[in-house]
Amino acid sequence: MLLELYSGVLRKRKLTPGLASLVALVAEAGCGLHWAAASVRDTVFLHKGENTLEVLLTAEQISRRVTELAAEIDAHFAGRRPHLVCILKGACVFLADLMRALTVESSLDFMGVSSYDGGSAASGEVRITKDLDHSLEGLDVLLVEDIVDTGLTLNYLRQMLLRRNPASLKVAALLDKPSRRVQPVVLDFVGFEVPDRFLVGYGLDFEQRYRHLPDLCLLPEAAA
Ligand code: IMP
Repeated sequence: MLLELYSGVLRKRKLTPGLASLVALVAEAGCGLHWAAASVRDTVFLHKGENTLEVLLTAEQISRRVTELAAEIDAHFAGRRPHLVCILKGACVFLADLMRALTVESSLDFMGVSSYDGGSAASGEVRITKDLDHSLEGLDVLLVEDIVDTGLTLNYLRQMLLRRNPASLKVAALLDKPSRRVQPVVLDFVGFEVPDRFLVGYGLDFEQRYRHLPDLCLLPEAAA
């Protein structure tokens, strides 16, 4: 019955983000559905400007997974102080939630990287737009990425950071799009595997839009 209610509400396709999340939560709790990763395909639609965005992962789902990831990272760094390197701009929202969910003390630095020329097509080129403020020498570095797509950006960054002699280098990525991989990558902590679609929200943008959305949404294929 809850599923019917949920589908009925979905057909109307006019939910506020908060209500959409609540409906998803009720359906999930009541029906024992497992809303993991890329299996969340037909959820709720939001109208944001001229693009209709389909929610792939709700704020609640993301929050739960970030808490789990933080526990894994806590266990790995027990007794040490990880130095978080946040890759701007997309990972800033993930970083803020992850850092506060960790119980181990951490330090923080930011690196600005631009891999796409504003749109959604991979240029294959990685540009450093802002370098780190501090040396990595002897630190236990945790690279915090929003999404790994082709793998080009992450591999470039990993090589560059390893040349700066950290004691160790691990990678936490909120999202992994393995079907798009051009180069193999090593990911130590991953939030969700996602389908080959362009995602926005929770820090991720399309032409500098949608970063503020609390949910992770699919951009319509026609717009991407
Ligand atoms: P890669 O080098 O192809 O792995 O691309 C990594 C970077 O591209 C990410 O850090 C994002 O900034 C961007 N990116 C890749 N896929 C998406 C997406 O679906 N939405 C928003 N940004 C993306």
